[in-house]
Amino acid sequence: PYVEPHVHLDACLTAGTPRWNESGTLFEGVQIFSEYKQLNLLSPEDVKRRATAALRLLAAHGVQHVRGHVDVTEPTLTALEPLLEVREEVRDFIDVQLVAFPQEGILSFPNGEGLLRKAAASGVDAIGGCPHLEFTRGYGADSVRLLMDVAEEYGLLVDVHCDEIDDPDSRNLEVLAALALERGMGRRVAASHTTAMGAYPDAYAHKLINLLARSEISIISNPMVNMHLGGRFDTYPKRRGLTRVKELNNAGVPVAFGEDDLQDPWHPLGNGDMLDPVWMGVYAAQLMGYDELQDAYKFVTYNGARALGVSEGYGIRVGNPANCILLDAPNFYEVLRTHAPVTYSIRQGKIVAKTQPAQTTLYI
Ligand code: FE2
Repeated sequence: PYVEPHVHLDACLTAGTPRWNESGTLFEGVQIFSEYKQLNLLSPEDVKRRATAALRLLAAHGVQHVRGHVDVTEPTLTALEPLLEVREEVRDFIDVQLVAFPQEGILSFPNGEGLLRKAAASGVDAIGGCPHLEFTRGYGADSVRLLMDVAEEYGLLVDVHCDEIDDPDSRNLEVLAALALERGMGRRVAASHTTAMGAYPDAYAHKLINLLARSEISIISNPMVNMHLGGRFDTYPKRRGLTRVKELNNAGVPVAFGEDDLQDPWHPLGNGDMLDPVWMGVYAAQLMGYDELQDAYKFVTYNGARALGVSEGYGIRVGNPANCILLDAPNFYEVLRTHAPVTYSIRQGKIVAKTQPAQTTLYI
């Protein structure tokens, strides 16, 4: 099955409420979602309804594993409890992991550490961070150390929004990778976005990629949202806004693709179809060689499973659960070219979604 390794389940399906993001910046997105909360639109019922609808949308497109982020820089943790309930309610058709995501920082937000620990104790699967948005670089590095400590203490996975900024001096990824290596936690750690890598000097990027390969952490790139929000402060030349997918891939660092946002203030589009990030990713990262195209399914399947720490039991192998999808095309090159639908999504041997391919009749 497809794996969606990065989506924000607390904000999904809110695009246009209370207004649309016309500047297309991350910052206007933050402002709009803050207005959404000020209008008291964010209630447990609202979160549950939207998250369930988004997960059904993903399931309809053959996704059976999802990692969802939930903002924990919100004093009442409104979205956490309903999402923990949703995670259980949907278990029959989709596996959901929840990441405690301190959107406004851990050290730069009042009681940030307390809220993160509260979420950790409430039953989330992973601990997140947002070091590039902390007040200082020192806070950024300290926040990474702190979130790794909390993850170790509670025995949780790690997925950090790391260096999601076009700033060549945003270098929190090296801290995360070094700690993962030193503590032997690499296979339990993912770094999301890492878009600053697109702005680093080549010599530094080379050194960093070697460290990443040794550390065994996974990278999660979100090609659609990175292309949309990235490079917004550039005039021309304008950055693509993505991490170095091709170079990471060549160095053996596992890269997975996610959608990040499904119809929310940071992304007006997004429909739960994992071919969309693959499509955008192969163009933006210039992975258009024939073998690269044939191989691109791994970004939303095996590498996603690796990033989520669910590789064991994933894939078509004797003894694994009967979870798989069928696509209406002979190989992945044709899947991508024709945007082939998932005709069947099968879970534990049962059909959970079926799509009839569209038929066109030409009258010429
Ligand atoms: Fe994100």
